[in-house]
Amino acid sequence: MKAQLDSLLEEARKALAGAVTMDDVEALRVSLLGKKGSLSALLKGVSEMPAAERPTFGKVVNQAKGVLETLLEESAARAKARVDAEMLSVSIDVTEPGRHYRRGHVHPIRETTEVILEVFGQLGYRQAHGPEIEHEYYNFEALNVPKHHPARDMQDTFYLTEDVVLRTHTSPTQIRTMLDVKRPPIKAVMPGAVYRSDSDATHSPMFHQIEGLYVDEEVSLADLKGTLLAFARKLFGSEMRVRLRPSFFPFTEPSCEVDISCVTCMGSGRGEGESGICRVCKGSTWLEVGGAGLVHPNVFKAVGYDPEKVTGFAFGLGVERIAMLRHKIPDLRLFFENDVRFLRQF
Ligand code: DAH
Repeated sequence: MKAQLDSLLEEARKALAGAVTMDDVEALRVSLLGKKGSLSALLKGVSEMPAAERPTFGKVVNQAKGVLETLLEESAARAKARVDAEMLSVSIDVTEPGRHYRRGHVHPIRETTEVILEVFGQLGYRQAHGPEIEHEYYNFEALNVPKHHPARDMQDTFYLTEDVVLRTHTSPTQIRTMLDVKRPPIKAVMPGAVYRSDSDATHSPMFHQIEGLYVDEEVSLADLKGTLLAFARKLFGSEMRVRLRPSFFPFTEPSCEVDISCVTCMGSGRGEGESGICRVCKGSTWLEVGGAGLVHPNVFKAVGYDPEKVTGFAFGLGVERIAMLRHKIPDLRLFFENDVRFLRQF
């Protein structure tokens, strides 16, 4: 037994001398002193020993255990010292430049929306919002587009149920705003996403509008034109002109399309290409940015206003269109592809 113990100590010494890491030392501790370790195995032999020898052997084993513990401690201390030394030898370069993280960007549609809202904010317009999932009553009926009216087809509507739609324009928010306010005057701009089931180079099934509404007494077409002119000039410069072109919308009378001077040729119609004609306005000198008109009496009736007493104008501007003009973006689809190389430019 004594010989076995000696050789165990000898082997342990050698093994611990070769232990490098804390993990090595811990593994040896388990294999030497653990429940299933070498020392426990030796102790099992005690039962076969004559009773008189057992106490002496016990003492020797305890001594050996003490020696093993000391050896383990020394090894552990060496391993720890090595780790500390390694940590100290790693030098930190305090002059190294920090890591660069790219900041996110505001999407050009959001950015253009905010600029437009800001301009109208300065003209005294507050903001109002309506739902994108809309009842056909607000999207059509209250806007003087009765059931089976051909204008409902004109708008390529996405129907969710027979009478719930994805709003085809921001005009239903006019209705909601008037119902909320109950009593004019109202000056509000209403931004948001709208949906129509067409999709090609110049149409997206989802796009954005900003609706404008001014209701008071004796609001005229001249007020509408003056407001749109002030808006165009704030956005594109003092040279801008505005043209109202006769058109039709069920919710306005009279109705018009809103044109502004071409921002590329500044209304000259001339371009740099071989043809000498501006390729953005095709020489027409005008660009369409939305629709507008004086609020139809039937719309006022739908919200409980007296059309004999109040008048108002409304307009709907295409945000994508205006963003394309502001940033000279050639293709509508770029807004929705979300290619970071495109978005990073804004
Ligand atoms: N809602 C129309 C559309 O999406 C645009 C429009 C025209 C809005 C005339 C108006 C308006 O407020 O008065 O085509």
